[in-house]
Amino acid sequence: MSSLLRKKNINSLLKNASPLKRTLRTFDLVFLGIGIIIGTGIFVLTGRGALTSGPALAISFLIAAICCGFAGLCYAEFASMAPVAGSAYTYSYIAFGEIIAFIIGWDLILEYALGAATVAVGWSGYFVNLLNNLGIHIPQVLTAAAGTTPGVTTYFNLPAFLMVLVITYIVSIGVTQTKRVNDTLVVIKLAVIIIFLAVAIWYIKPQNWHPFSPFGWYSHHGGTATGIIPGASIVFFSFIGFDAVSSSAEETINPSKALPRGILISLLISTILYIAMTLTMTGVVKYHVFSRYINAPILAVVARTGQEWLSILVSIGAIIGMTTVVLVQLYGQSRISYSMSRDGLFPKFFGQVDAKHKTPFKGTWFFGTITAVAAGLINLNILSELVNVGTLTAFILVSAGILIMRHTQPNQHRGFKAPGVPFTPIISIIFCVTLVAGLNWETWIRFVVWLILGMFVYFGYSRHHSLLNPKNVKGGD
Ligand code: ALA
Repeated sequence: MSSLLRKKNINSLLKNASPLKRTLRTFDLVFLGIGIIIGTGIFVLTGRGALTSGPALAISFLIAAICCGFAGLCYAEFASMAPVAGSAYTYSYIAFGEIIAFIIGWDLILEYALGAATVAVGWSGYFVNLLNNLGIHIPQVLTAAAGTTPGVTTYFNLPAFLMVLVITYIVSIGVTQTKRVNDTLVVIKLAVIIIFLAVAIWYIKPQNWHPFSPFGWYSHHGGTATGIIPGASIVFFSFIGFDAVSSSAEETINPSKALPRGILISLLISTILYIAMTLTMTGVVKYHVFSRYINAPILAVVARTGQEWLSILVSIGAIIGMTTVVLVQLYGQSRISYSMSRDGLFPKFFGQVDAKHKTPFKGTWFFGTITAVAAGLINLNILSELVNVGTLTAFILVSAGILIMRHTQPNQHRGFKAPGVPFTPIISIIFCVTLVAGLNWETWIRFVVWLILGMFVYFGYSRHHSLLNPKNVKGGD
């Protein structure tokens, strides 16, 4: 039993941390955060969110933001205590031990690989619209996974599939977004959102906000959960990615201050934009109109304004915004599977660094191909809910990790201490559990199946090959 909970030692991790150059400051982290956070959540999921909560989707966003804020404080404390790569996977290896770390790593596959598939599907909706605007038409059966839109025959999302393969190629040859490219893309993304708001706000009809909360906090309609909480469970996806900021700990100047600030400021800016977008969207068109624009809900608003040019601008902004998210997620996935392979929990295949490109080439293609196929075949709702449940589970474990670390390692140096412990992690856990409860039961079942699969991998392979297994010569950390 104790071997299941064998832990990494925080001090040896810090000692062995690779000496990356520290160049990032708070401002850079905020840009990095916004680059990762704003994507499919706001450009696509707002449609389904509005159908689930009505105009009260603004409150759903607020709830999801509060959840992420509390979890973000816990992430920031861990990141300042162990400013090494690996994010939640590494933190849980320190706090809980191996099996939980494995589960988190396994969950992060959902967050990163399936997350990338979800964003690619969202990207495809706007891409197809842009092509239509330019007079290029892809056969409809190849624009979405089967069963995506009731009454419309579709088989495969070809644009999403190809897009993931292209980004996989880019990540596999070692091109990562440079700071300057990221900053430029973030500025474009923000500018598009602000222009959209500035145009659309004049078309708001306050009567569209009545009833503000047609489904209350939690109800059921036609077999699906509706209301503010289920809406929050859906749009939680919009905030995913802020945790990746903590992965930059080794490259940050004064991480103990810059990391928590970077995480919290990027969350704050995104929340303000999301709430402004949601109120504007549900103010311009009645919430149920989004059912006809489920793949690109912002276009429902654009259509109402009658400003054709805005459709092209929004599509370009959405496409650019979502491309950067997919890039970061596929990069994150390749690095998590690399870390797990380096620790012996995944086969060496995933950790082999290609001599030419200096990247975990094979692992990147392995997950990139799976992600591409998932993006082609699975519809966005199923994907995004699975990503949410996986990420929420990771948040719960990170928050619990702070409670445990404060108890077991009270004297460990912490550059940043989450305020209000034990309440902060406890509130984070309560919010996360509430959001998990707001997801559909089919998602829970899919998640349990995923975890069972993970346990087969852990007990069939990882446990024996772990570097912390005393039988392995290199044992220990
Ligand atoms: N938060 C990211 C998005 O909404 C994953 O696309």
